[in-house]
Formats: sequence, C-alpha cells, structure tokens
Amino acid sequence: MKEPRCLSRPLQYYCTAGKGMEQFLATEVVCKLSASDVNHVTGKVFFTTCADVKEVTGLKSAERLFLLLKRLPPLAEKGNAAQLIQEQIIGEHQAWTDALSLWQSLRKALEGHDLDPVGRGQSRKRKREWGESEREGPVFEGPGQVKCHVPDMETEKEAAPRVGLPLVDETPEEHGVPGCQPKAVTFRVCCRTSGAVSRRFNFQDLGRMIGVAISKQLGWRTDLKEPDLEVNVHLSDDHSVLGLPLLRLPLASRSYIKTAGLRCTVAWAMASLADIKPGSCVLDPMCGMGTILLEAAKEYQNSFFLGMDIDGSQLEKARENVQFAELNQRIELLQSSVTAIPVPSCSVDAVICDIPFGRKFGCKADMAASLPVIVKEMERVLCVGGVLVLLLSPPLSALLRRSCQRAAAAAAVSQPGEPPSQPSPGRTGGTTSSHATPVFPSLEPLGVHRVSLGTTDALIHKFRKVSVPREGS
Ligand SMILES: C[S@@+](CC[C@H](N)C(=O)[O-])C[C@H]1O[C@@H](n2cnc3c(N)ncnc32)[C@H](O)[C@@H]1O
Repeated sequence: MKEPRCLSRPLQYYCTAGKGMEQFLATEVVCKLSASDVNHVTGKVFFTTCADVKEVTGLKSAERLFLLLKRLPPLAEKGNAAQLIQEQIIGEHQAWTDALSLWQSLRKALEGHDLDPVGRGQSRKRKREWGESEREGPVFEGPGQVKCHVPDMETEKEAAPRVGLPLVDETPEEHGVPGCQPKAVTFRVCCRTSGAVSRRFNFQDLGRMIGVAISKQLGWRTDLKEPDLEVNVHLSDDHSVLGLPLLRLPLASRSYIKTAGLRCTVAWAMASLADIKPGSCVLDPMCGMGTILLEAAKEYQNSFFLGMDIDGSQLEKARENVQFAELNQRIELLQSSVTAIPVPSCSVDAVICDIPFGRKFGCKADMAASLPVIVKEMERVLCVGGVLVLLLSPPLSALLRRSCQRAAAAAAVSQPGEPPSQPSPGRTGGTTSSHATPVFPSLEPLGVHRVSLGTTDALIHKFRKVSVPREGS
C-alpha cells in the first residue's frame, strides 16, 4: 500500500485505552494514521504521526487523546519529592512553552469539534470536561485547596490541585487592545500515580507540588473549574508521562450515538475483527440499542447491516439511534429471536453479537443452557468463509471454549489414519473424551481477546465458518 504523503511535521501523541484495547488501538493508528514509533503499555498507546489532527481525533478504539509533553523514566527512588518534581518532571522552561504553543495551534485546528461542545462559562457538567469519564469516582473538596478525584482502584490515585496564584500579564499587543490586561494561561493538573510510586508519595501532595512548580516556572495560573488546559500527569513504575488533552470530551463518547448500550470502543473493536468488506451483509441478532451496528456502519460505509432483538423496547431505542445517526439506509431492524433467525442458511457474511450477561441485560433464559443453540443458529446463517464475533462473560467464554475443545477432539478421531490436526491460531488445546460430538463442526476458532467493560471483563471470540455442516450434525 502506498504511504500517504506527510503534509506536516510529525507530532507525538498518546491515547489512553481500556484494558485489553491497546492492541486494537496500536493497529488502528498504524492503519489510519500511518503512525510510526507505535508502542504501548497497559492503558496507553504512544505514537508519532504527521496526519492532520482532525484525522487523529477520528480514532475509534481510544478513550482519550493527548499531545505528548514528556515521557520520562520513573521518578528516582530516593530524594525529596519537591526536588524530584522540579528536576525530573518540570525540567526545561522551553519544552513547556513549545508544547503550549503547539497545543494552542492544534486546539485552533479543532475549533468546533463535536467533542468540544462546552463553551467557557456554560459548562453543563463540569465533571466531564477534559475527558473526565463518568466512571471516575466522586469529586470533592479535601482539606486545604486540593480537589480530589477518587480513583476506581486502590493502586491508582489522582488529584487535581487548586493553587491560588496571581494573574500574570501577557503582552497586551498580542490581543490587539493596547493597555488592556490580558488573561494568563490557566491550567489544572490531573495527577495519577500507580504501583510503588503511589506507596511512596501522596498523590494529592504530588499534584499540588506539580501545580505550584508549573505556576512558578511558567507564570500560568491555576483554575480548577474552567482552565484553558489540563496538564495530565501519570507517575508509574514504568515511566512518568505528561500530556495535554486535546478535547474536552473523551474520543469514546460518540457524537452520532444518542443512547449507547455496549461500550462504543469495544463495539468498534468487535466490528474490526469481522473482516467486513464492501458489499458485506452483517448481522447482530441480539442488537439491543444497536451500538455494534452503528459503530460498524460508521466505519464500513459500503456494507449493509441487519439488527434483531426479541425485546421491542430495545429495538425502539435502536431505531432512535439509527435515525439519529442517519443510517436508516444501511441498517435494517427486525423483532425476532436468536434461536430462530429469519434469514436463509449461508446468507450473511458476518455475525457480531454481544451475548447478554450481568444485571443490565440479564435475560430470563439460562444463557449457559441456550448458548449452544444460539451459536448453532448463528453458524447456520453464516456463509462459508464468514466470520462470527461474540462477546461473552468469562463463564460463558469458558463454556464455549470447552465446547470447541470437544469439537476439535471429535474432529481428530473422525479421521483415522491421519495425523492429529494441529490447533489453529487461538484454538484452545486440552484433552476431552474422544466420543464427544462436534458441537460447532464448521466453526474454526481464530482467537480470543480479553477486554474490560468497566465493572467487569468480557471476552471477544472470533470464528470463521470453514464448511457447511452436514445435516443433523
Ligand atoms: C447485551 S444486550 C445487547 C446490547 C447491545 N450490544 C447494545 O449495545 O445495546 C443483549 C440483548 O439480547 C436481547 N435478547 C435476549 N434474548 C434474546 C433472544 N432470545 N433473541 C434475541 N434477542 C435476545 C436482549 O433483549 C438484549 O437487548
């Protein structure tokens, strides 16, 4: 494939990603942005690209997008915290002013972006600005002037300090109003620590110290409520990362979805596994509010999508979503049961499905008991060469793996005289009874990805239909 021409200078970014999503994001930045220096650690993907920043904001598997300010070794193990921060985190003045002017030019290029809707002074929900997700803990005022975001996990701590400092003047001419007092750059620090760093240092103190050091060195003024920019700091055992978020809302909040069911990033990742091609027909037979269909239809513009659900009220929300996203021409919805999908055998190119589990979508039927019937019906409607992508809870995933192992063992004994078949990539090994019947004889397992849904993990299974199952099997 021909490399796109680099029209501007390469910039270093990083994105945060949900657990298990890093590999999807790393692949996406290479494919969509021709990114280089792509590497990832848990929860973050770093990359360099000369793509236009608007293209960068089009990433679908990322949570939040940052301009990389610094990526440094972890804080030294010994030393006074204030000194370590000044020497290791703050460092040279120039790096900060360069980053600020770059950030300002990128922000200018992003003016009017869908994910930057909150005008200054009219924030609807302050808590969600600069990408703070709804999943962060409650925000409260602690003693002194520190505002704390209570983190989800004990090992991860974060703080945004408020440090009252006087306004610093800029040259009035810059604003074209001689003699008028221009506003200083205002900022807040969002500091997070993890691992051993969080045991050595109090995250609130670190955040406050970083805020004070930035103010002193750069003359920026802290403003917790409506800052011009946020300085995001993550101090971990692997590295210290400093970044400037480029949008107020997370990339993961989609402007084209009215009501999301499944996490949009996970829905997009599932669609990315389904090998959707122009002209493909893709089915979600338990579509709920249709998140998977919407994510897939936005990404694969020349394909057709079919959503089904047994619950009329879910379908109604899906309809509203499809209307809102203006995708009526390519997404069809139908009320029906997954156990009797009203389409002919071998008629769809991909089936993508989020099998219900947990309280939110718990259904009365015993999913463990129904799973073989459901997968069999999906196997039936898939064409040969078609792909099945399923999102399953850990117990349902284990059940499906066991079924596949039985199928693999049975396939091995059904061909006497031939060497035992080698497991294909992602195929689970293990021995089972050789008398077991193949459960899904035509489905070849192609891998499993563990992802986080916030409060719980889930597993994405990918299969390819390799043959037409014989009658009665
Ligand atoms: C986990 S939810 C899907 C959520 C969806 N991915 C979304 O983003 O909104 C599972 C859906 O399966 C539907 N469902 C349960 N049993 C079904 C059945 N037998 N046939 C079809 N749909 C069913 C439920 O109504 C629910 O909407």
